[in-house]
Amino acid sequence: MPPHSDLPPTVLVIFGGAGDLTRRKLVPALFNLFLDGRLPGPFTVLGVDRTALADNAFRGQLREGVEQFSRRGKPADADWNNFAGHLGYLQADLTAAKSYADLAERLRASAPQPGAPADHVFYLAVAPALIAVVADHLRQAGLVQDRARARLVVEKPFGHDLRSAQSLNADLLARLDESQIYRIDHYLGKETVQNILAFRFANSLFEPIWNRRYIDQVQITVAEAVGVGHRAGYYEKAGALRDMIQNHLLQVLCCIAMEPPVSFAADEVRSKKTDVLRAIRPIPSDQVAACAVRGQYGPGQEDGQAVPGYRQEPGVRPDSPTETYVALKLLVDNWRWQDVPFYLRTGKRLATRVSQVSIQFFPVPHRSFPPEAVRAWPSNRLLIGIQPREEILLRFQAKEPGPDLCLGPVYMHFSYEESFRKPTPEAYETLLLDVLRGDATLFMRADQVEAAWSVVEPVLEGWARQAPADFPNYAAGSWGPQAADELLARDRRRWQMPAAAGGETASTYYPGKKEHHG
Ligand SMILES: NC(=O)c1ccc[n+]([C@@H]2O[C@H](COP(=O)([O-])OP(=O)(O)OC[C@H]3O[C@@H](n4cnc5c(N)ncnc54)[C@H](OP(=O)(O)O)[C@@H]3O)[C@@H](O)[C@H]2O)c1
Repeated sequence: MPPHSDLPPTVLVIFGGAGDLTRRKLVPALFNLFLDGRLPGPFTVLGVDRTALADNAFRGQLREGVEQFSRRGKPADADWNNFAGHLGYLQADLTAAKSYADLAERLRASAPQPGAPADHVFYLAVAPALIAVVADHLRQAGLVQDRARARLVVEKPFGHDLRSAQSLNADLLARLDESQIYRIDHYLGKETVQNILAFRFANSLFEPIWNRRYIDQVQITVAEAVGVGHRAGYYEKAGALRDMIQNHLLQVLCCIAMEPPVSFAADEVRSKKTDVLRAIRPIPSDQVAACAVRGQYGPGQEDGQAVPGYRQEPGVRPDSPTETYVALKLLVDNWRWQDVPFYLRTGKRLATRVSQVSIQFFPVPHRSFPPEAVRAWPSNRLLIGIQPREEILLRFQAKEPGPDLCLGPVYMHFSYEESFRKPTPEAYETLLLDVLRGDATLFMRADQVEAAWSVVEPVLEGWARQAPADFPNYAAGSWGPQAADELLARDRRRWQMPAAAGGETASTYYPGKKEHHG
């Protein structure tokens, strides 16, 4: 039996326990936490869903999920059996009051440590329409009154626009205290995103130059190679702006742009991030086309295979106006960032899967070296690889060895894998453990989520007013629509092409050189 943490006895109730998220993400993450001895000693996971399932069938379904999706692969029988003993299932209709009486009874009957009070974490792995419904029933059943012990975890998407997010916040806050609500943005659980704050605030080197005097531009890319897959039902109503920019990319931007927090207390960090969102210059309604580009993939190739366009995917309307690509230029109106553009782009069916932040510094103010001594003189650049490469790469000029003066760019490289030689936990492992600990630092506060919606609202409205005329406007397997290149070209800039997709590597300047950053 693995060791366990000294967290209090806990019951984790997963609404939507028979669903995809539970099988694919939540239970593999819980199982890994169990193996690492991070779960509370006495703990119970109770899946609640409308499907009729015996406890054993439920466990079997979850084991298959772990075998398929856990970073550790197939579990050993003994480990799984130990873990499975903590799993139970309750069939219930989440819209019926009686279900919550049943749940309360089950919680009483299956307390992980009889006689000791347990923390109750209610995880909403269900469609957004059920969030307020479940919260209301939990309140009426008296299951969330204990502010210190009852928590509610809410998945993305949180709202469909600013108004619906405000309304959902109002519904939740009428029933629970803000301190009990954990709004997930799984990007914040990624090690590489958390490390941005360590990189900036645990080193004295970077913070003095982390501002408009030294930084020319910031680019944030989250590119997916996959298409919409089986998610058209959701995606047709969402699109890339809602699905990716409003949450993940804006949260990465906040990590890059926030002021140093006074402490790492949850509200201090979240306030500093919210300040960034509030400082983003609102996009005027007549400037949407100048600041935002939307795209939709047409047929193309992925890994040498022909793939259909978005409108040919199952469940997608043949004339769908849904965007699968967004590029956005944002400005942050404060002393640190005035006039520094933040370019964000994300899309499906792009040339490769990569998430990275590129921080481009200004060129040197004076070039004292003779032009013939310089092979190339690109500005300093810091590249933060979020996935799949977890790395930080700093480009700077160096003198090549030899009697002649010859300068060119070289790279300083930090890789998680090489430096730490231990596996990186999945984002859901980090986030679930934080919920169990009651640490809300990595979760979105009500005002934070609303501020993020405010940033994208003018674009949502502008696009809703005018249907796209040129969809599909990029081929699957490309880097997106030409208009996205033009967005930067107007500022005399170009997208930083990820190295994996034929972008810059050391061999760009030193032909034949083998490059660790491939
Ligand atoms: N799947 C992912 O990887 C992922 C990633 C990020 C966020 N999310 C979010 O997580 C949430 C859940 O997603 P999911 O993909 O897991 O959805 P899902 O597979 O449809 O799971 C939801 C479960 O809730 C059940 N359910 C629906 N109405 C119910 C009711 N009235 N009473 C009891 N059970 C009910 C569904 O049963 P039926 O099947 O019978 O309808 C289903 O088993 C969504 O908000 C989604 O946006 C999912």
